[in-house]
Amino acid sequence: MTRVVAMPIIDRTEADGWRLVIDALPEPAVALDRAGTVAHYNAQMLELFPKVRIGLPFSHVSRNPELIDAVDNVHVVGEPIIVQLIERVPVDRRISVSVSRLTQVGTQSAIPSLLITFRDLSEQDRLDQMRADFIANASHELRTPLASLRGFVETLQGPARDDPVARERFLGVMASQATRMTRLIDDLLSLSRVEMRAHLPPRGVVDLNEVVAYVSQSLEPLAKAAGVTVTIHRLPVPARIRGERDEMVQVLQNLVQNAIKYGREGGHVDVRVERAAHGPNISPRFSATVVDDGPGIGPEHLPRLTERFYRVNASSSREKGGTGLGLAIVKHIVARHRGDLKISSQPGVGSRFGVLFDELPPGSAAGTDQK
Ligand SMILES: Nc1ncnc2c1ncn2[C@@H]1O[C@H](COP(=O)(O)OP(=O)(O)O)[C@@H](O)[C@H]1O
Ligand SMILES: [Mg+2]
Repeated sequence: MTRVVAMPIIDRTEADGWRLVIDALPEPAVALDRAGTVAHYNAQMLELFPKVRIGLPFSHVSRNPELIDAVDNVHVVGEPIIVQLIERVPVDRRISVSVSRLTQVGTQSAIPSLLITFRDLSEQDRLDQMRADFIANASHELRTPLASLRGFVETLQGPARDDPVARERFLGVMASQATRMTRLIDDLLSLSRVEMRAHLPPRGVVDLNEVVAYVSQSLEPLAKAAGVTVTIHRLPVPARIRGERDEMVQVLQNLVQNAIKYGREGGHVDVRVERAAHGPNISPRFSATVVDDGPGIGPEHLPRLTERFYRVNASSSREKGGTGLGLAIVKHIVARHRGDLKISSQPGVGSRFGVLFDELPPGSAAGTDQK
């Protein structure tokens, strides 16, 4: 249904000027005329309110009573009115709406009388929530070993004061709790360092062959203790990528360590450096893949593995010296290197963790002065 509105004769450029401003606003915006009907709206507005049409009374666009009240009252109040829209369906959303008067009541003007703009605060709320959860999780993880340490200190000061056997045993447990706290703080610091550097492209050159060899060698004692055989397959040519060696070591170390820890006792871990398949539109890449023959990971866990503190089995991870931050660190480092992290697993058969990075074109010089 279209309504014909009598428009005063005015300069075209002035008439279109305010429309262009509304079109250029980065957020959803709609202008209403004196009668409270839609005079103009931008593309973002149509996305947020698919029902919006020129000439439609605003009360048909949104049925939110607070927003409709604001539209009715803003002429009287004078100041812009801010209204919060909370939506639960289809997803939780919080939108801050500002209703402003553009012209005085009674004045004849070519521009509309009201401007309503919408700001979606859901993303900011989500980040705030993530930050709060992260602090709560980190505090909880630290509080547990701390409480246990305090308990042992009290026992050693009291009942076990003169019991050398108990003392020896308790001191051993205390040392391992302190180690756990140190590991957690190291991982937290690593994570924050990687996050801080997220936007700085890496400048060094790394050979994945070398990193894989170094990591397997440094994890040899852990593998031996678990009776796990680690086999590495390297490329006969250098697998050079643009990257920070320390960070690449951290990535492979965590993946191989996980494969040893969560794989099969007495099992096999394969670490393979390869050229990833590439086509006309995909640049050549190197991959490093870690495959174990352990119990695997249920498909419901896979999408969450890289979340901070996410563990399939928290107590088993803690027992094995895990913090739940390893794969979160891996994800951040891979992102900083513009690479990909691919995780797949078949319960009962094993898991596969692969990282892929662009090949450094031949002839690119090594060094830190590269862009
Ligand atoms: N190779 C693997 N096989 C089975 N589960 C794994 C494997 N690698 C990681 N996981 C699961 O993912 C979780 C998160 O790994 P990570 O972020 O490295 O934390 P952490 O090793 O400190 O527990 C682990 O607790 C474990 O449940
Ligand atoms: Mg780990």
